[in-house]
Amino acid sequence: MSFSGTKQQTSQGPAREDLVKVQYEDAAAAANYAASFEGWGPTARYHWSRRYAVGEALKDCPGGALLDVGCGPGVQVRYLLDERPGEFRITACDQSAAMIAATAERVGTDEDVLLSVADIEDMPFGDQSFDVVLAMGVLEYVDAGNALREIARVLRPGGLVVATMLNPLSPYRLFEWGVFWPARRVAGFVERWCGVPPHRRHAARKTGIHAVRPARLRKLLWQSGLSAEDIAFYDVTVLVPPFDRLVRRWRRGWRHAPETTVSRGARWWLGTAYLMTARQSTSA
Ligand SMILES: C[S@@+](CC[C@H](N)C(=O)[O-])C[C@H]1O[C@@H](n2cnc3c(N)ncnc32)[C@H](O)[C@@H]1O
Repeated sequence: MSFSGTKQQTSQGPAREDLVKVQYEDAAAAANYAASFEGWGPTARYHWSRRYAVGEALKDCPGGALLDVGCGPGVQVRYLLDERPGEFRITACDQSAAMIAATAERVGTDEDVLLSVADIEDMPFGDQSFDVVLAMGVLEYVDAGNALREIARVLRPGGLVVATMLNPLSPYRLFEWGVFWPARRVAGFVERWCGVPPHRRHAARKTGIHAVRPARLRKLLWQSGLSAEDIAFYDVTVLVPPFDRLVRRWRRGWRHAPETTVSRGARWWLGTAYLMTARQSTSA
């Protein structure tokens, strides 16, 4: 199945765009997503590891106009305002009005942040408007090629893109997508057949996630006129679900030493996701 910018109803169910919208469309979804940054479970570890990797990617960036596209409930925006005060003029956009409302609440009225409900594939910003574009956890949900072309359009010459992507080659994702979620679906089907009430059945909702390998992302960047510069694999782990839920609660070192969860070397394949930085050419 190919995913394009136009909405496609599949024979198996709703169009991918609708699946994605439903997941993030209301205030409860925005609050749940923000809550996943807290605590000690696997999702919190993922977010802390990624935050460290993004911080490293922005370390040498002097500041300027920054776009956080697919900003979710604004956790990264809040973090940048707190950690790098006054350095970035931030614009945050998301297709979900609920996510933008959550960002507004998190950012508060004092901060000079521009918020916009917009689609990453068709953004209401002028050409060459930003020095930095963050695309964290969003390219998996869209046509990544279309999104990167749009990002390249709004990026100034020499501007920086920081893009993240789930790592489809990691043991974690292979097991999660190939064994864990299918097993939950089968369990739910058997429970339904046995008359277990819906709220007590196992389930695995469809997410619309479509992760690409690093080589593919590099090619998509290049096709959009962006040159990949660096890659870091994060949330490095040998655990697979559901065991990670148990063990990660006991092993808490990642909070204090997030650098141990990021790899550019031999452990790359254990990263459940990766971050790629790329530049717009200076003559664009
Ligand atoms: C997994 S969340 C990531 C949120 C945030 N960037 C983070 O990493 O914490 C994905 C976000 O992408 C947004 N999104 C999905 N498709 C989008 C699109 N076509 N245009 C803009 N935002 C989109 C969703 O509404 C959701 O807020």
